Amino acid sequence: MKTILITGGAGFIGSHVVRLFVNKYPGYKIVNLDKLTYAGNLANLIDIENKTNYEFVKGDIVDSEFIQNLFEEKKFDGVIHLAAESHVDRSISNPTEFVFTNVIGTVNLLNAAKHIWNNNFTGKKFYHISTDEVYGSLGEEGIFTEKTAYDPHSPYSASKASSDHFVRAYLDTFGLPSVISNCSNNYGSFQFPEKLVPLFINNIKNNKSLPVYGKGENIRDWLWVEDHAVAIDVIFHEGKIGETYNIGGFNEWKNIDLIRAMCRIMDRKLKRIAGESEKLITYVKDRAGHDLRYAIDATKLKNELGWEPSLQFEEGIEKTIDWYLENEKWMNNVTSGDYQKYYKQQYVKR
Ligand code: NAD
Ligand code: DAU
Repeated sequence: MKTILITGGAGFIGSHVVRLFVNKYPGYKIVNLDKLTYAGNLANLIDIENKTNYEFVKGDIVDSEFIQNLFEEKKFDGVIHLAAESHVDRSISNPTEFVFTNVIGTVNLLNAAKHIWNNNFTGKKFYHISTDEVYGSLGEEGIFTEKTAYDPHSPYSASKASSDHFVRAYLDTFGLPSVISNCSNNYGSFQFPEKLVPLFINNIKNNKSLPVYGKGENIRDWLWVEDHAVAIDVIFHEGKIGETYNIGGFNEWKNIDLIRAMCRIMDRKLKRIAGESEKLITYVKDRAGHDLRYAIDATKLKNELGWEPSLQFEEGIEKTIDWYLENEKWMNNVTSGDYQKYYKQQYVKR
């Protein structure tokens, strides 16, 4: 039996990856290591928590001694590293936290893998999950390929770029077998409502204003989270050591168009008069250093490993809105307590 470490498995994308691996690979022991920050939530994994090939470990990747001991004890065969501070706005108000978790945390994992694998790398793989934001911002034309030079602008993307560089440096310097993927914006179930899609669904439902940064003209390339999880499965098993794979949905939306589309769907689902939810749109001060446009070219992944997104966006966003409407209890739990403080700091006192 192989033992696979998934970090950040109680978060949005990580919980989908853990679920997929636990259900699909009964021959793997899946260890989910998560600090359970505000973004980590074991309620995301209730359906698989009692499976015999699953174990949850609460811990911090910044704690190097704890990480060394865990690797010594579990002797992982593979690592899928998702744990991170992931929200751009929080990286603007508290950049240092992003350096600790995203940079130092990643280096701690690399050190521990290097130590226990001890130059015996056969069958081992360190898979680092990164973001398209490391490539910077596009104008109206162009698309990010795996060869696009790094040009991060936010403390979040700078910390992710730094961690990507460390992963490559450990391959080049120590031979540590790694692979990296850079994905575009995900949407779907279990996403913490600080990010655009779940935040706006929740606000529309509760008749709260929809805080659109700037003029709403920024463009993002949206991918259904379960398609990302499948891509991670394919890359973990088939991806070539030393390679980078871009993952994306070929699905660009201007923020304001996406928001209006969500308003229209929600009007229908909530049986509101057409146009009612759009009245909640409020233009607020722009995000500092706000990247204009992201667009991912995922052709390499399609041509070399045969992965393609399974869902059209129209279907994915309907499913996503349905999920949040049906899972009111989940939403109420994650928006109680500290969330209220965050919301006030981010939106009310701007
Ligand atoms: P998330 O914020 O929902 O989840 C992050 C998880 O990491 C949480 O469960 C949290 O508790 C855990 N964590 C944070 N700090 C930790 C620490 N010090 N030690 C252990 N665990 C810790 O994030 P997400 O949106 O699921 O993103 C997961 C990964 O995918 C991140 O690396 C992110 O950069 C990357 N990514 C995200 C997107 C997206 O659209 N959300 C797109 C591309 C790449
Ligand atoms: O591109 C991949 C990245 O996508 C991931 O690496 C990040 O972890 C993830 O958070 C996401 O980053 P973004 O900054 O693109 O996502 P966010 O949902 O925060 O914002 C999407 C767009 O919507 C962005 O242009 C900012 C805008 N926005 C966001 C919020 C939260 C608003 O206009 N108002 C808001 O209140």
